[in-house]
Amino acid sequence: MCTAPDTVAFQPAPATGGEQDAGYLCSWNLLIRVISRRMAPSDIIRTESLSRRFTSRRGTVLAVAGIDLQVSEGEIYGFLGPNGAGKTTTLRMLATLLPPSGGTAIVAGADLLREPALVRERIGYVSQAGSSFPDVVGRDELVLQGRLYGMPKADAKRRATQLLNDLDLAEFGDRPTKTYSGGQRRRLDIGIGLMHLPKLLFLDEPTTGLDPQSRARMWDEVRKLRAHGTTVFLTTHYLEEADALCDRVAIMDHGKVSVVGTPVELKKQVAGDVVLVSVEGPTAIARTLLAEQRFVRKAEEEGSSVRLYVENGPTDMPAILRLLDGAGLVIRELSMSRPSLDDVFLIQTGRSLRDENGQG
Ligand SMILES: Nc1ncnc2c1ncn2[C@@H]1O[C@H](COP(=O)(O)OP(=O)(O)OP(=O)(O)O)[C@@H](O)[C@H]1O
Ligand SMILES: [Mg+2]
Repeated sequence: MCTAPDTVAFQPAPATGGEQDAGYLCSWNLLIRVISRRMAPSDIIRTESLSRRFTSRRGTVLAVAGIDLQVSEGEIYGFLGPNGAGKTTTLRMLATLLPPSGGTAIVAGADLLREPALVRERIGYVSQAGSSFPDVVGRDELVLQGRLYGMPKADAKRRATQLLNDLDLAEFGDRPTKTYSGGQRRRLDIGIGLMHLPKLLFLDEPTTGLDPQSRARMWDEVRKLRAHGTTVFLTTHYLEEADALCDRVAIMDHGKVSVVGTPVELKKQVAGDVVLVSVEGPTAIARTLLAEQRFVRKAEEEGSSVRLYVENGPTDMPAILRLLDGAGLVIRELSMSRPSLDDVFLIQTGRSLRDENGQG
């Protein structure tokens, strides 16, 4: 039984000797020096062209297509993207669980490829699937994790008690984890990731499957971590989670990061207002008509509605009404809202995250 992170056989750097090896090491060292120079003192992660491809009999998938990331110490950094975007693959690489196919990274002050043990010591990783065993009591899971990281038994026990209290799990600590609710189990997963006091914690979809109340509670836990100085790098499908929780968000799709910014900065990219209009009859006619108007920046069909990005919703709404009415189209619904991260996602990727997941 083991709650330790998956182990990965790393390719050691080639031994010195031979012109080719010397050349390899020379360019390697140069690359590392370049990355290190570019790192601001507060960077906890910096990657350059990090990539990962998977090859199977069915072909090759470029899961992560060369990404450059910069995460600052102390922030909650969110990776937002649809299924298959490459989020978990990126996290697994940064957590030393999967060797990259290309590129380099500095994680928590250590070189990902050359110092994986050091990276592992300094980070915590909570996988998408969770890591607790059903028949083991929560406290034992925590103690075991501490022991795997070399903590003396007494220290591991003390830390386990402290975490059970901090994560509001004290009353369940001595019960097998199969008796926990989804939210309690997810909190225990986070405790397992925090046992050895990492300065950087990776959380892969910490709130998927939780009810809104448990999700809000989890957000509080993550905020508490930040308040205690832990940097949190999480993935999520939930737009409102990224909005409410993350200091910065990266939108990932098809293995690439299309945009990075604070939720406010990202929403500002979608200037103006969003108007959703649905008409009786073919939506395409309404879309074409509206797309031609000068005040409409973008018009997209969305199911039986048209989503319009306009300069000024309150003043443009009457014009929209007049136009559709003039064209003999009967309006079923008309609403206006401020841009959301969903709109940013839609503009960046051409798709709605809500459609992908049926949630959000
Ligand atoms: N071990 C593997 N072998 C082959 N392909 C893989 C493997 N792991 C991931 N992939 C592929 O890589 C791509 C990215 O997968 P990844 O798990 O990183 O996505 P994700 O963004 O985490 O998705 P989700 O939101 O569903 O968790 C997908 O196309 C996936 O099928
Ligand atoms: Mg994933």
